[in-house]
Amino acid sequence: MKPYYITTAIDYTNAPPHIGHAYEKVLADVMARFQRLNGREVYFLTGVDQHGQKVQKSADKAGQSPQEFVDGVTAHFVSLWEKLNVRYDGWAATTDPVHKRVVQTMLQKLHDCGQLYKQGYKGFYSVRQEQFLTDKERGPDGNFGEEWGEVVELEEENWYFRLSDHVEWLKGYIRSHPDFIYPAHRANDVLNALEGTPQDLCISRPIERLSWGIPLPFDERFVNYVWFDALTNYISFAGYLADESGNGDVGLPDFSKLWPSEAHVIGKDILVPAHAVYWPIMLHALGFSDEQIPRLIVHGWWNVKGAKMSKSLGNVIDPNVLAATFTPDGLRYYLTRDIATGYDSDFSDERIIMSYNKELAGGLGNLLNRSINMAQKYRASVLTPGTYDDAENAALRQTVTDALPAYLENMSSWAIHDGIAAAWKIVSAANAYVDSTKPFSLAKDPAQAARLDSVLYHLAEAWVHVSVLLNPIMPTAMATARAQIGWEMPEGFQFSDLKWGMLKEGHQLGAPVPLFPRLEITETAD
Ligand code: ME8
Ligand code: MG
Repeated sequence: MKPYYITTAIDYTNAPPHIGHAYEKVLADVMARFQRLNGREVYFLTGVDQHGQKVQKSADKAGQSPQEFVDGVTAHFVSLWEKLNVRYDGWAATTDPVHKRVVQTMLQKLHDCGQLYKQGYKGFYSVRQEQFLTDKERGPDGNFGEEWGEVVELEEENWYFRLSDHVEWLKGYIRSHPDFIYPAHRANDVLNALEGTPQDLCISRPIERLSWGIPLPFDERFVNYVWFDALTNYISFAGYLADESGNGDVGLPDFSKLWPSEAHVIGKDILVPAHAVYWPIMLHALGFSDEQIPRLIVHGWWNVKGAKMSKSLGNVIDPNVLAATFTPDGLRYYLTRDIATGYDSDFSDERIIMSYNKELAGGLGNLLNRSINMAQKYRASVLTPGTYDDAENAALRQTVTDALPAYLENMSSWAIHDGIAAAWKIVSAANAYVDSTKPFSLAKDPAQAARLDSVLYHLAEAWVHVSVLLNPIMPTAMATARAQIGWEMPEGFQFSDLKWGMLKEGHQLGAPVPLFPRLEITETAD
């Protein structure tokens, strides 16, 4: 079976990472880890988008060369992914010579088959903003406002891609491939955008206007601008045209094995036109077949406007600060639990504090801690399931067994929050089971010894299952939990190996340590 090839958007390196970036990479990492435990080989590519006008400007402002500037910002991204346990297999940095070579080879290919042409354009140009203006930019009085500074009429030549040639193909492709975009309703946005007269796409900037980009191989007075550079990362780092471009020896994956990607994970703002129009058309123009068009997974927006942070955290919604406060896994959990994939969510300090203190510390962590504690206290940490059984035990086993298929179905269809909820049914049921079986009372009555053995066993065994299902979301905490249970996930372990009875007679539990110690943060800034 072909590997599951998952990519994310590559992040702009004109500013440090924010919570939206963190969400997207965690979402992709959760899916990569899920697919591995689901028996798939996975290739996970992410990276940084380092060219363009914004970077050139920010670098100027900082008094640095563009390369120095993007290297600095890139380091922030890399260290955040390390901190958040985002484990990628390939790193797509667009200033990498590997990438430049493929972009140039590909542009040359499109040029050779007549898909690119040069044309003059005359219009009004804002010197301050360095952009052409259209009637949309005119104020109510018909003039360009002061914000544009000096406006001059300018004629400029540029290179264009024959996008309009392929629009009919794209419409047909979208209509006949309902799986192309997840969630499916977003396909309508794309079809709506394709109404009207199709336009070709300008793909260059004259070098005197923009130098921080990849030069066109057939006309060095221009650099590529900008989507052809950014979008191409999905194939350049996957080994596309490796031999032709001179990348044969750099250890890239085998493109024919990896492509097409089953998941380009992107935010809704870059669906139309970039990923749903330019990208499939570009691939089509390069000769990719309909079966070679990748699938788009479009996530929603974390709204941070009006979000208040508690005074003790400061008013910055910096993923590094959040990870330091709530632990990296606590942040991963919040970012995947409090949003439905494809829809928006409001970042809320109250919610993240509550998700940590109530759900992770109070619900999940407490269950583990009291289970292991009681076993230590009453049975010197040794499990002896015995033969005792009753309806309560059977009900808990049933909950554990039923959780798996529900979890798998939700997770594999990108409903991560529902997948977590499916796993959480075990947590809630096991906590309720402690409350109703009252092991502390059973321990006082020698006649109940066999029942107590079975209760302690059921709790530990339920936790083994929880620790596997939640592993993609919270890999560090779940590994810690397994160490406390004294059960290691064997190399190559898969969800399908999960059966009731992972822990054997005489199993020795480890020592209990609070998994998510409660945080004392309550005050909120106004
Ligand atoms: O768009 N909530 O880079 P970028 C959720 N370089 N997702 C968010 C978000 C938020 N508040 N803010 C940003 C770019 N994102 C281009 C992409 S891909 C070939 C080139 C998401 O740094 C956004 O939707 O502005 C995008 O998927 C990713 O973060 C990078 O955004
Ligand atoms: Mg953006």
